Order: sequence, then structure tokens, then C-alpha cells
Amino acid sequence: MYSQLSPPIRAIVLPALGILCVGCSGRVEIPVRFEPNLVHTMKYQIQQDVPMDQASRDASWIVETMFGTPDEPKLPAVITEDDELASIVSMERLQQAAGPAESGGLFRKHCAICHGVTGDGRGPSAAQQTPYPRDYRMGVFKFKSTPRGEKPTREDLAKLIRDGIAGTMMKKIPELSEEDIQALIDYVIYLSMRGEHERKQIDMAVLDGIIEDGERLINVEFAQKVIADPGYREQLEQLAEMDEETLNETQNKELELYERFEDDWGYAEEYAVEIAESWIDAEDEVLDVPEPPTDFPLAESYADVVAFRSSDRADQFEASVKRGQELFVGKIASCSKCHGEKGLGNGQTTDYDDWTKDWTIRVGLKPENRDSLVPMLARGAMEPKNAIPRNFAEGIFRGGSTSRDLYRRITQGIDGTPMPAVTFVEGQFEEDDVWNLINFIRSLQTAESGPAEAAPAT
Ligand code: HEC
Ligand code: HEC
Repeated sequence: MYSQLSPPIRAIVLPALGILCVGCSGRVEIPVRFEPNLVHTMKYQIQQDVPMDQASRDASWIVETMFGTPDEPKLPAVITEDDELASIVSMERLQQAAGPAESGGLFRKHCAICHGVTGDGRGPSAAQQTPYPRDYRMGVFKFKSTPRGEKPTREDLAKLIRDGIAGTMMKKIPELSEEDIQALIDYVIYLSMRGEHERKQIDMAVLDGIIEDGERLINVEFAQKVIADPGYREQLEQLAEMDEETLNETQNKELELYERFEDDWGYAEEYAVEIAESWIDAEDEVLDVPEPPTDFPLAESYADVVAFRSSDRADQFEASVKRGQELFVGKIASCSKCHGEKGLGNGQTTDYDDWTKDWTIRVGLKPENRDSLVPMLARGAMEPKNAIPRNFAEGIFRGGSTSRDLYRRITQGIDGTPMPAVTFVEGQFEEDDVWNLINFIRSLQTAESGPAEAAPAT
């Protein structure tokens, strides 16, 4: 029950109840736990008018049994026992990143203040930030070398952790060694898998009508017995082999429970495999970026823009910028719809990202209607903030500022945000035009502010 309360409330309730006496030294410690995703369950409660408390607790039990706790992370056996799946997250690196900051736990030391212990993007400093720190639990990431809809590669995550994300509060942390960074990548993937698993279980339980039928995701009490006691499990397996006729009533009941357990646990394992596979697949999905054309110079920075404009290729460069501008404001690419005619980020500014839409627009709540959001905000949803298109005058690119980075950003869009992938139209907007768009975007920068802060090359 207490796990349903928000951390500040729990901090008061637990010691007051006096149920914790760690080491019985008289010192009361609040155990660090992963928070249940109450916003996700509340969504269904509102949308379908079904009580979700039991489902929330059952899902929490399953993810904790499979993935462990912040101090003792685990991975489901279906992952560790499969060579390929086991290659995404190593237990050794996981342990390096897990645990309390005081004993060297890297994630809690360097990341949890923003991303939260659970990776829910709700660390103590999150609310004041724009954009908010990422909630990893949707399994959606913005800045990557893979197509829209795919997971990032390990190297994509490494880049962001190494360099920070320009224009956001996520800064480079100089004291991190490469080994630390690799451990943190595993931990981010772990938190994301765990969070996505929890969501998926709730989704499937609702979709399959389990909740509506008043049934449970899993019979936790029975499952606990089976998992804790291999001998008991063996007995049940023997029962399953026997002729039904020969079983008495109790045995039949137990067998029924066991069969149900195997189904429920089997689904949970399937979800774990699916999610792990999506991370494995990403490594093979890196998008090739074609060679830029040679008939005009391509600016890699604002300094290049200035240099080209006073070089003997000035005419070629200006022609490319002009072509880029035409596309930018034209009907087909229609970048200006969101970024504004002059690229100042002042076109469409009232939209939201998917982390907000997920619990508002998609369940019929209007982010502007503050009162209707109260049940969600009370369960940990972050106050909606608009997804503002980039202002190109600032010259800051969060996902890396090389032309290769921008090429990928423009062709794939930015996952989880309104920024769409482009659609090419033969003879009107073709692949090579992306380089013209890049020249145009760079030409909009008004000061030499960007490159110094921007994330380095792909
Ligand atoms: C001071 C706050 C802060 C700290 C500390 C911080 N981050 Fe972030 N992080 C952010 C913000 C803000 C974003 C979202 C940027 C955006 O949406 O454009 C983010 C995004 C991310 C993303 C998602 C990137 C994507 O492509 O979607 C990852 C992964 C990440 N951070 C990992 C880490 C790790 C690992 C650490 C610790 C080493 C860390 N962060 C520390 C604020 C922080
Ligand atoms: C439907 C609205 C929309 C359209 C259309 C759109 N964008 Fe965006 N764009 C955004 C938003 C929102 C962001 C900020 C996303 C974020 O990081 O949260 C963005 C960010 C960007 C970025 C920043 C990438 C980075 O690494 O920081 C670039 C570059 C960009 N857009 C280029 C374009 C180009 C070129 C077009 C036209 C082909 C275009 N956009 C069309 C909404 C849009």
C-alpha cells in the first residue's frame, strides 16, 4: 500500500509507522525503491473506468521479481540465459552503476537528481527544467543514429553521456571515465527495459480484458510460492504429467493455479524478450548518411557560413541557402509551419511531446484544462510544457551539430516530439536538398554562440 504514495508522503508515513529499523541501530532509513508507474495505470482508470490498483501492484511485483531493486538489480532469466539477449546489458556493469551514491553507484551519483532513481524523469531537480529530463520508461529516445521508432545504439547513448546535451541542463561530467560511461549505458537500458515492461504489462492486461473481467495480471501469492520453492514447482510439474482423473480436488485446484501462473509468467517473459530484442536490433539499424554533393560547399558550422560568404564559392553557397529557404517555407517540406518563416522557433508552439500526450491528449484530457489533470499530477505526471521547435538563430543543436547529425535529424524527425520525418517528392524535394536545408539553417545563426556549446561530431 505504501508504495502507492508519492516519495515525500512516504518519507513521512514510513518512519511514522515505525516499520523500518535498518540494522536496528535506531537509525530509520527509507529503502530506495523503484516507483510504480501510477500515471500509466490512472490513465486506464480514467479512460475505461476500471479500478487499476490491483493491476498496478501486480505489475510492480512482476517487474521487481524480474528486474530487482535499485540496490540489487537483476535481469529476467529469459534474458540472461540467452547469449544474444544477454549481450545488451552486463550484470557486472549494471552493478557498477547501481546502488547508493555514497558507495559509488554511478547513476544515483550523477543522474538521479534529474532522471530520478526509477528513470522516470522525476528527479528532485526535474520540475524546474525545460525540457524535462527524459523519462526512460516509454523506451523512446530522441537523438540517435537509427530510424524513427527504433531504439538508439549504445554508441548514441554514449555520445550523449560523454558530451551532455547542448541547450539542456544535461552537461558533460568530466570525471566520468569511459568505463563509467559504459556502465551508465547499461543502467539506462536496464531502467528503460524495466519501465517499458511495466507499461506493457498494464497495456496488455487492459487490452486482453483481464482487468475488465476482474482478474489479476498474476496471482502474486501463488507465484511467490512457486518461484521461491523449486521443490514445490517440481511437484506441480509432476501433477501436470499425471492423468487428470487420478487427481483429487485440491490437486486439481493447484494444477489450475499452476497452469495459470505459467501462462501469466510466460507472457511477462515474452514482453521482456521483445523489449530486449528491440535494443539488440538497433545496433544493426544505423542509418547511412550519403556523401554530400560537391557542386556547392556545405557549412559545418557558423564559422563556415561566414567564411564561405567571403570566398570564391560565395555564389554557390548563396544559391544553396536560397534553395534551402524555398524548401523550408514551401508546402512540401513545410518546416516553417513549426519553426516559423525565419526559423526562430515561433511557428507551431502549442503542441506537446509524446511524454505529455501519452497521459493527456491520448486519454482524452486537454493539457490546457488544468483541473482535469489533477489526478495525474497527483500521481507524478509532470506539468505539461509545450514542445517548442528549435530557434535556429541560436545555432544550438541538441542531437549533435555536425551535418551528418543534422541530416539524420531532418530525414528521421525527432522521436517523441512533433518534429516529423521528411517525405521526399521526386523532382521537388529530394535527398540532396537536405544539404541545402542544412546550409539554410546554419545561415540563420546570428552569433557565434552555438558551436562552443553544441555537442561534438558523430
Ligand atoms: C541536470 C539534469 C541532468 C542530469 C544530471 C543528467 N541528465 Fe540526462 N537529460 C536531461 C535532460 C533535460 C534531458 C532531455 C533532453 C531533451 O529532451 O532534449 C536528458 C536526456 C537524457 C537521455 C535521453 C536522450 C535522448 O536521446 O532522448 C539520456 C539517455 C540521459 N539523459 C542519460 C543521462 C545519464 C546517464 C546521466 C548521468 C550520467 C544524465 N542523463 C544526467 C537532464 C539531465
Ligand atoms: C510539426 C512541427 C515541425 C515541423 C514541420 C518541423 N519541425 Fe523541426 N522541430 C520541431 C520541434 C518541436 C523540434 C524540437 C524537438 C525537441 O528536441 O524537443 C524541432 C527540432 C528541429 C531541429 C533541431 C535538431 C537538434 O539536434 O537540436 C532541426 C535541425 C529541425 N527541427 C529541422 C527541421 C526541418 C529542416 C524541417 C523541415 C524539413 C522541420 N524541422 C520541420 C518541430 C517541427
